Amino acid sequence: MKEILAEFEDFLKAHDTSIFHSFHPYFQNAFWEMVVNGGKRFRPSLLFSVILANKKEKIKDSFNIALAIEVLHTYSLIHDDLPAMDNSPLRRSHPTLHIKYDETSAILSGDALNTYSFYLISNSRFNDKTKIALIKSLSFGALKMVLGQACDCYFENKILQKNEVDFIHTNKTAALIASSLEMGGIIAELTDKEIQNLHKFGMKLGLFFQIRDDVIDATSKEATEGKPINNDTNKNSYVNLLGIEKAKKAKDELKNDLLLELQNMQENIQENLQQILQSY
Ligand code: IPE
Ligand code: IPE
Ligand code: MG
Ligand code: MG
Ligand code: MG
Repeated sequence: MKEILAEFEDFLKAHDTSIFHSFHPYFQNAFWEMVVNGGKRFRPSLLFSVILANKKEKIKDSFNIALAIEVLHTYSLIHDDLPAMDNSPLRRSHPTLHIKYDETSAILSGDALNTYSFYLISNSRFNDKTKIALIKSLSFGALKMVLGQACDCYFENKILQKNEVDFIHTNKTAALIASSLEMGGIIAELTDKEIQNLHKFGMKLGLFFQIRDDVIDATSKEATEGKPINNDTNKNSYVNLLGIEKAKKAKDELKNDLLLELQNMQENIQENLQQILQSY
């Protein structure tokens, strides 16, 4: 997995962005720079883990699909950081686009990346049936992400019930994580049942991932995370709803659940996902 991720990083840095070549002084750079600025590449690793376990020979062709997911995720981060949303000046250890350039460029870079991710899938080397299934999965995850973000921002400073917080987390974060696993299953030509199981696992993994992110917001350091901490004190999160200790406990319980659930999966997927989960 390590080597694949390193190759993927080179692939992403070498990407031809000339589709946005123009006389605009910086838009071509602005739209791509947050993609190459780093990030944990969590969603691509999930996709790769399923493909590596089942159809290794398709791993190179899946780079464009992993890129599509990462590009869509990056759009969600650029918009998440805008003044109208979380108003954050730092992302992936770099100034956010609205700080470095201007708000217009940040909004339009997000718009461009959103559309570009589907352009990447349509240009990939898979057959039409696979491409449509991939587009369906990614667009569904993206739509849920937007719904989650809408609720997340609307209910700032208003206290919600735990089931409502779960709704926000599973939509804004888990849906795209579930799509990443599902898309791996589609490329690897797994059975419908296996793909459904991956999606279900991804939803729980995504909930874990957001609780972990909220714990980080309350406990970590800006220098470690590459983004501001204590940025989400007015949000509906496990940390703000239950307190830090109970949030940590819920996170650890979910992780244990996930590790147990992995035991019902194919052995080779099990190993790959276990490795990823253990590092979080
Ligand atoms: C941040 O996602 C937003 C959440 C859904 C919590 P990541 O934690 O995956 O951010 P990057 O991609 O590593 O920057
Ligand atoms: C963001 O959640 C989820 C997205 C869909 C981008 P957060 O607002 O907690 O993510 P960070 O902490 O800014 O990365
Ligand atoms: Mg947010
Ligand atoms: Mg945020
Ligand atoms: Mg956060």
